[in-house]
Amino acid sequence: MTSKWLEAKVIENRRWTETLFSLRVEGVPLSFEAGQFVRIALDIDGLRVARPFSMVNAPEDPVLEFYGIVLPQGPLSPRLARMSPGDALYVAPNPAGFLVLSELPDSETLWLVSTGTGIAPFISILRTETPWRRFRNVVLVHAVRHARELVYGEDIAVHRTNRGSRFRYVSMVSREAAPAALAGRIPAAVLDGRLEAAAGLKLAPDDAQVMLCGNPDMLKDTTAVLVERGMRKHRRRAPGHITVESFW
Ligand SMILES: Cc1cc2nc3c(=O)[nH]c(=O)nc-3n(C[C@H](O)[C@H](O)[C@H](O)COP(=O)(O)OP(=O)(O)OC[C@H]3O[C@@H](n4cnc5c(N)ncnc54)[C@H](O)[C@@H]3O)c2cc1C
Ligand SMILES: NC(=O)c1ccc[n+]([C@@H]2O[C@H](COP(=O)([O-])OP(=O)(O)OC[C@H]3O[C@@H](n4cnc5c(N)ncnc54)[C@H](OP(=O)(O)O)[C@@H]3O)[C@@H](O)[C@H]2O)c1
Repeated sequence: MTSKWLEAKVIENRRWTETLFSLRVEGVPLSFEAGQFVRIALDIDGLRVARPFSMVNAPEDPVLEFYGIVLPQGPLSPRLARMSPGDALYVAPNPAGFLVLSELPDSETLWLVSTGTGIAPFISILRTETPWRRFRNVVLVHAVRHARELVYGEDIAVHRTNRGSRFRYVSMVSREAAPAALAGRIPAAVLDGRLEAAAGLKLAPDDAQVMLCGNPDMLKDTTAVLVERGMRKHRRRAPGHITVESFW
């Protein structure tokens, strides 16, 4: 695919853990809706290697932010993780994606359900006014292997302060004991009612829209348990309750 690449400059590389990082880059005016992604690229051995990344920043913020994990065998992510202020990064001019609130029907509660780096588009959505204007309650669910991967705590604290009980945050940790988080995986916590109990809200077709992002197996397994509850995939021509974006 041909595209006119834009050149951005890294201004910050925040390391959350040895494998998790957030890059902030400037110099690229992009028009997008919160929840969308864009291809970013580096030249590696003479080839431009590009991968989609979700924007973490709100659309009106001119500094683009991307949240990533190092996949040691992957070509791009280890190099992104090593970038320093002043380094150049290519950004495609055409953001895309349907994990956006403009595609969603109205409902009482918006559930933003993520694994790993799948939280990125939801941080962007929560940095806009739209979810707070359109939904009475917003639940952010973030499931990770280890507690240290529960990132963007500053954003979560701001929403708690500004939105009070309209905002609920449920964290899940699957591979170690973590007192403040639910244990295990999202589909099991939906099935046995722990997710609803932790959020203090019900997850039912008459009053919920669910956005899912991250691990493709999580998307499949969670969709299956939601379908058992009478929910269905949302389509423009056949409105439903579940909207998904797979990261691989
Ligand atoms: C629509 C879309 C949006 C995306 N947004 C993001 C984002 O905001 N942040 C981000 O880190 N990645 C995101 N990804 C994944 C990203 O495009 C790359 O695949 C990832 O950064 C790894 O690149 P790589 O070249 O190092 O390895 P790749 O060769 O691309 O991937 C190697 C393998 O790692 C696994 N993998 C890929 N991405 C992830 C991931 N994010 N978490 C865990 N395992 C993964 C898969 O098994 C994959 O086959 C997105 C992907 C899509 C399709
Ligand atoms: N996270 C790390 O410490 C780490 C470090 C270095 C490299 N990596 C690489 O990064 C990749 C994984 O990244 P990640 O940890 O962000 O993502 P991940 O493997 O998708 O795990 C994130 C969360 O999703 C859960 N999950 C997995 N399959 C699921 C399913 N079918 N249904 C519901 N939940 C499910 C995991 O639970 P389970 O724990 O039960 O699987 C975990 O809680 C791997 O390729 C790994 O090699 C990870």
